[in-house]
Amino acid sequence: MPATIVIGAQWGDEGKGKIANLLARDADVVVRYQGGNNAGHTIVIGDEVFALSLVPSGVIYPNVIPVIGNGCVIDPKVLLEEMATLRHRGIDPSGLKISGNAHVIMPYHRKLDAVRERFLGKNQIGTTKRGIGPAYLDKFSRDGIRIQDLYDPKIFHNKLNTALREKNQILTKIYNQLPFDSAAISEEYLEYAARLSDHVADASLLVWQAIRDGKNVVFEGAQGTLLDIDHGTYPFVTSSNPTSGGALTGVGVGPKDIDAVLGIAKAYISRVGSGPFPTELDDDIGSAMVEVGGEFGTVTGRRRRCGWLDAVALRYSVRVSGITELALMKLDVLSEFAMIRIATAYRSGDTEYPDFPRQQRVLYECEPVYEDHPGWQTDISGVRSFNDLPAAAQSYVRRVEELAGVPVTMVSVGPDRAATFEVGR
Ligand code: IMP
Repeated sequence: MPATIVIGAQWGDEGKGKIANLLARDADVVVRYQGGNNAGHTIVIGDEVFALSLVPSGVIYPNVIPVIGNGCVIDPKVLLEEMATLRHRGIDPSGLKISGNAHVIMPYHRKLDAVRERFLGKNQIGTTKRGIGPAYLDKFSRDGIRIQDLYDPKIFHNKLNTALREKNQILTKIYNQLPFDSAAISEEYLEYAARLSDHVADASLLVWQAIRDGKNVVFEGAQGTLLDIDHGTYPFVTSSNPTSGGALTGVGVGPKDIDAVLGIAKAYISRVGSGPFPTELDDDIGSAMVEVGGEFGTVTGRRRRCGWLDAVALRYSVRVSGITELALMKLDVLSEFAMIRIATAYRSGDTEYPDFPRQQRVLYECEPVYEDHPGWQTDISGVRSFNDLPAAAQSYVRRVEELAGVPVTMVSVGPDRAATFEVGR
């Protein structure tokens, strides 16, 4: 394993948490590198279901140091609540490390996220309203407040007051909202800071040292390639880089430190929020995928849009993240269907696009070019090895790896940890 980046190869919700959690059993460090509590990871172990949004999934193992890297945006209130929930469930999060360079989600970020979405009306992005975009916006406009600033009250107050001077104008004059009070925020956030102080660390150094010492490090992705601010379906994306480049800048290590990039894809595809989706199914098959696959958001509870596997998008993910192998999740959900389709290209007018089109308009206009595969129509949720899958399911997996251009090394047929197994060669 040594240093493995776990990437969502679609629009998020592929089951990264589950795979990161599996890898974490043998890991020394599990590090989140971007996003914040917009992500939702459900981990099922026996009868226990853990829903995490910010704390890396490796936290459940005593052998793992969970780390939140500088590329993340942290809502300290949510983080502390999540840590309290873990403690309540008998899991000790005291080893959690947080980069002092990570940016802080402030109350005005959450408010701005919500009111901006309302303001955008039918053009809204469908964000999780967790303040993610506005926090990253402040980071890049250099108005952000970092975790380390909370430990330097003079700097913190200065930054907070500067931010509020502008934010309160925007909130009151453009969005007709009440202004935020600096003293109240300051009191609240300094209290969070005091409770988190033992966790603040040099995350880059910690991760780099672990890699140097030959330890196993898992870079736990959130969201997915098609939600990447640079490579996704902009503007219907998140405000950070879920692709593998984001793992490097979001932790502070170099490309030579990485041994493998594991892409996680569902055997079909889903997305939440707005934006183009060539293989979306607005029919009974799409609804069956939602029902059987339990396709409702972990964070917001929203119904996910579902469709057939898009191999054009998958190849694109493999390219932009340098994915070296894939895990194919929720194969059991396809057991319903007599015929299973995979999009191998898009067609718009007379043009066929075997590669992800550079002009996004094509994604709205195109028709997917499908190839059809016979279904297996038998329950595979109890299968525990690749060779025991029905022949049609095996050949579906083999076809996916052919189309993606990288091996599928893991398949998952159910929520339980034991339902994920390796694919023999
Ligand atoms: P934001 O990240 O809250 O700003 O939302 C931007 C877009 O990314 C919206 O379409 C969200 O639904 C989507 N998004 C953010 N986080 C996730 C995730 O963890 N899974 C799936 N979609 C996500």
